[in-house]
Amino acid sequence: MKKQKLSNPKYLNLITDIEKYFQESDALIHDARNQLKRIPFQGEGLIVKSFKVPHLLNRIVYSFFRQSKARKSYLFSEKIGDFTPEPIAYIENYQHGLISTSYFVAKHYEFDFDIRRPLLKPDFLERALIFKRFAAFVYQLHEHNILHLDLSPGNILIKRDDAGQYQFKIVDINRMKFIPLSVKERAKNFSKLWANNEDLTVMLSEYAALAAYDQEAFIQCGLRANQRNKNIKNFKKRLKGHPVND
Ligand SMILES: Nc1ncnc2c1ncn2[C@@H]1O[C@H](COP(=O)(O)OP(=O)(O)OP(=O)(O)O)[C@@H](O)[C@H]1O
Ligand SMILES: [Mg+2]
Repeated sequence: MKKQKLSNPKYLNLITDIEKYFQESDALIHDARNQLKRIPFQGEGLIVKSFKVPHLLNRIVYSFFRQSKARKSYLFSEKIGDFTPEPIAYIENYQHGLISTSYFVAKHYEFDFDIRRPLLKPDFLERALIFKRFAAFVYQLHEHNILHLDLSPGNILIKRDDAGQYQFKIVDINRMKFIPLSVKERAKNFSKLWANNEDLTVMLSEYAALAAYDQEAFIQCGLRANQRNKNIKNFKKRLKGHPVND
């Protein structure tokens, strides 16, 4: 059995044969837990994310109690509109009543770099300006009651447009909350960037200025949350015998 939803009937051929299109594309752009491929379709560049089949318990959970990641990616994209690349479809395949493979399709966003680059490169052009614009983007998300629970560097795509303005899109959006946010939750949302204190301060201070918060208090709150997150992650890495870097 197959469940699906698409934004426009013109994608029906693609959706019906998604396995074939996915296998035939050799434009693999990301190969980790999930695989992403770029697929040209009727003159458009699309991105197809193929989700790993969950283990048995989660197949039950995602079939009966929770929405699949593919479906959530699609529905959340529809919900947040311009903050993310345009959604095209989701497809869920079921075997014996349980979810197996699933796909999320979106328009390919022609970004120039993700935020990892300016974060890691001290001489990246206009990096402080990029961090300020990013803070304004996150402020807008929060003002729309949108909390991205996985706001990590690879999920923040940036484009410098012809007018020299920076445009942002978030991806990987199957984990989100839609609630009015407290000041603390707002400051804490920057913690997954793994930014150093100086760069994070640039972001937090810009955010505080836009929101008319007490700057010093907001910065301290964000820096503390960031350090807590690093400590927890580093502790876990040490337990596994992995090297730590901050
Ligand atoms: N619509 C898009 N346009 C352009 N590039 C994209 C798009 N969606 C994803 N990407 C690229 O693919 C990468 C991986 O995508 P994504 O973050 O959704 O997968 P992931 O990190 O493997 O997900 P997960 O954490 O669930 O395993 C992104 O970092 C980005 O570079
Ligand atoms: Mg990601």
